[in-house]
Amino acid sequence: MWVLGIDTSCDDTGVGLVRNGQVVVNLVASQVALHEAYGGVVPELASREHLKALPSLTERALAEAGIGRKDLDLIAATRGPGLIGALLVGYTFAKGLAWALGRPFYAVHHLEAHIAAAWPEDLEPPFLALVASGGHTHLFEVQALGRYRLLGATRDDAAGEAFDKVARLLGLGFPGGPEIERLARETGEAIPFPIPLRDQKGYDFSFSGLKTKALQLVERGAPKAALAKGFQQAAIGHLAEVVLRAAQDTGHRVLLVAGGVAANQVLQERFRRAGLRVYFPAKGLSQDNGAMVALAAWRRHQAGLPPSPLSLGATAYWPLEEVGREGA
Ligand code: KG4
Ligand code: ZN
Repeated sequence: MWVLGIDTSCDDTGVGLVRNGQVVVNLVASQVALHEAYGGVVPELASREHLKALPSLTERALAEAGIGRKDLDLIAATRGPGLIGALLVGYTFAKGLAWALGRPFYAVHHLEAHIAAAWPEDLEPPFLALVASGGHTHLFEVQALGRYRLLGATRDDAAGEAFDKVARLLGLGFPGGPEIERLARETGEAIPFPIPLRDQKGYDFSFSGLKTKALQLVERGAPKAALAKGFQQAAIGHLAEVVLRAAQDTGHRVLLVAGGVAANQVLQERFRRAGLRVYFPAKGLSQDNGAMVALAAWRRHQAGLPPSPLSLGATAYWPLEEVGREGA
């Protein structure tokens, strides 16, 4: 069974093809260069670029898989959350394709897709899932596919956003996560940063204090690599502390880490040493992409969850706890 997945929630156009739960093709057209000149994602430009990129990217994905449109069994797209104009492009394109081919359509939650990218098919819930990306830092208890309990979330910046902002302060490129990771590797010295929210009772995150500290250090002319290393250690230390405490309190021993930040090697190392059974997305599946959307739809289909009506609209705001199992 072939599933096409499309993600246009932000600034990357993602088209993926999954066959019986295995990723066969995963193409991402990045808009980084376009938005760089403006210092951030310009929503209107992102929508236009998605529109330009989608038809040819989809044709290319089909060609690389060696199949035609008619071979597709399920069509899926990110319904939300994200930039509404950007979402609508991929979502409407996918719905049109599903309608024309007469195939079931799955409206997918972006965070369920990130989680699906790290979720081995033989792993039964419940478990914990940390989603850390440029737009989200959320800790969930996954009770079943489509049933999520939010344990904590960021109070200010998302983890990836903090990496991006600190990278900018250091004059590095976008996205900042990989740049910080690379620079930090160049030194053995780390400037210590205080770990945020150490005395909280809940499982929230906060990264704005780390960002402020980084700004002060930059203004004082601190060495960049040691600054990057110290920031990275504290940001990852904070994520790990909160998640491990939640694991201890709830008794969960299995953890998925998903989203763009999950690609960080220092983070992976830190969580692997934590004494939990921990899963990360395969290479190329942690950042926004289409294959993760196809994987989520495949899982829903396998679990007997119904497809979505074509009348369902996209939505910028959509808490994961509200997705339900009855069709998004
Ligand atoms: O999941 P994603 O592609 O998009 C969103 O849904 O936001 O995540 C992108 C974020 C960016 O903020 C980027 O800097 C961060 O993930 N990221 C990383 C690394 N690779 C990407 N952060 C830390 N270390 C990395 N190696
Ligand atoms: Zn994402």
